[in-house]
Amino acid sequence: MPIRGLNRPEGVERQPEDFYATDPATIPPLLKVLGSDWEAGNKLIWECAVGAGHLSQILELYGHQVISTDLIYRGYGVGGVDFLQPTPYDDLPYDAIITNPPFKYALEFVEKSLRIAPVVCMFLRIGFIESERRDALFTNNPPRYIAVFRKRARTSKNAAFPKGESSAMCHAWFIWYRGYKGNPEILRI
Ligand SMILES: C[S@@+](CC[C@H](N)C(=O)[O-])C[C@H]1O[C@@H](n2cnc3c(N)ncnc32)[C@H](O)[C@@H]1O
Repeated sequence: MPIRGLNRPEGVERQPEDFYATDPATIPPLLKVLGSDWEAGNKLIWECAVGAGHLSQILELYGHQVISTDLIYRGYGVGGVDFLQPTPYDDLPYDAIITNPPFKYALEFVEKSLRIAPVVCMFLRIGFIESERRDALFTNNPPRYIAVFRKRARTSKNAAFPKGESSAMCHAWFIWYRGYKGNPEILRI
């Protein structure tokens, strides 16, 4: 028996492999938090769940070198690369991993990313803070910042971002600096 308000509306399916494009407008405030050298470009970044390239393309516009891969080829970068398995891209000297991962594997994406890059930025629902399953992560490898959008960031299942339309969910950039111990700082961006 569906419970009103708790079930997905009829006809609205979760995307296979959790594909939702992220508004590229989420990148400038992230780079501002990371600092002026990140706004200046020239970092090596892995977008390891690139989708249709919405985040990669704007990072490239800033002058960053971006390795773009995804499990499924969606018109940008290299497809057929399962980030949760060993890949030929694992050993490059990345400055950061930046992505909006499939939410159901977000913990696994963060854990692997922290083994690979010194800075890890994940666009995630605020609900990522919840769940006992993530206790060890928040205890042993807490994020340095949780940067919440003052104006709700948009995601889109068909990669269109109609003007004025806002997301039903509240997202933030969760930003890890490998080795950071302490409480995450909440930022409003
Ligand atoms: C929420 S979408 C985000 C796409 C893109 N990062 C963006 O922000 O526009 C998540 C993406 O993760 C990809 N994905 C799912 N499982 C994956 C895996 N194990 N390895 C790599 N990519 C995966 C999906 O194919 C999908 O394109």
